[in-house]
Amino acid sequence: MDRFLTADDLDKALRRDVAAGLTATPKTLPPKWFYDEHGSALFEEITRLEEYYPTRREREILRARAAEIAAATGARTLLELGAGSGEKTRLLLDALSAAGTLRAYVPVDVSGDFLTAAAGRIAADYPDLTVRSVVADYEQHLHLLPSGTRRLLVFLGGTIGNFAPADRISFLSGIRATMEDGDALLLGADLVKDPGRLVRAYDDARGVTAEFNRNVLRVINRRLDADFDPGAFEHVALWDPRNEWIEMRLRSAADQTVRVAGLGLTVEFAAGEEMRTEISAKFRRERLEAELGAAGLALDTLWTDEAGDFSLSLARP
Ligand code: AVJ
Repeated sequence: MDRFLTADDLDKALRRDVAAGLTATPKTLPPKWFYDEHGSALFEEITRLEEYYPTRREREILRARAAEIAAATGARTLLELGAGSGEKTRLLLDALSAAGTLRAYVPVDVSGDFLTAAAGRIAADYPDLTVRSVVADYEQHLHLLPSGTRRLLVFLGGTIGNFAPADRISFLSGIRATMEDGDALLLGADLVKDPGRLVRAYDDARGVTAEFNRNVLRVINRRLDADFDPGAFEHVALWDPRNEWIEMRLRSAADQTVRVAGLGLTVEFAAGEEMRTEISAKFRRERLEAELGAAGLALDTLWTDEAGDFSLSLARP
């Protein structure tokens, strides 16, 4: 396992993000910190909700197109940014193995524990495959990732939507900068659709997404010795039609004071004050093609599921 990121680096990044976000106007917290063990379990639960279609749709596309992707790329290395729970990865691993080109799988994630577990399972099930995990932050360490010929870089789930537009282009440019002729990028992106469906996907009837949203407060309580009362914040999910993104917020139910002892910080919230915790941008084909193009990547093929809800794009330098 290669490590470009230590627990101490992550700790510093959390402190920096929380200090900056809670002293900004309006207050914000980045979605990156949702995913401790409980948050990751809640996200897994979200992916099984009736209302949350992206995971199911992306899986449908992969199931239908994995063989085509394998033939089009002839990939020797599958390099996965933000390695997920593995189920979707296996569809690609199976197709590339069947095509006979695959030699190595390189999952990249900020969590070493997560990688150890996931990579162990893959290595056990694909004995001929070299599995080389990399603990890294894909926003910082793209240039350090293992090079090689005919790599397929994959970034699934629609997480590209969590980036602000300008950050998206720099992220994609960073990916492009690591790529050589013969490499390809497979990018999962959610598509613009009926706002009612979009909002329901981020505000489910059982309140799982609301718990997921509030979990960032629990993470800050535990790691930065803060005293947020998660129950005193309401979950908000809204569609921003101008930016074409879903925004999640936490709304303070009352005037309240929060102490973040680990940062020596005291923060006031007014009743009704809203703090943004996530944007999840939704795309149209033209915008995906334009943004990939701005990063120096040419769109080869864009697939969608039958319903046209979600997209997978294959792009090349
Ligand atoms: C994991 C970033 C793709 O934006 O849909 C799910 C996270 N947030 N429900 C998304 C999420 C609320 C998810 N991504």
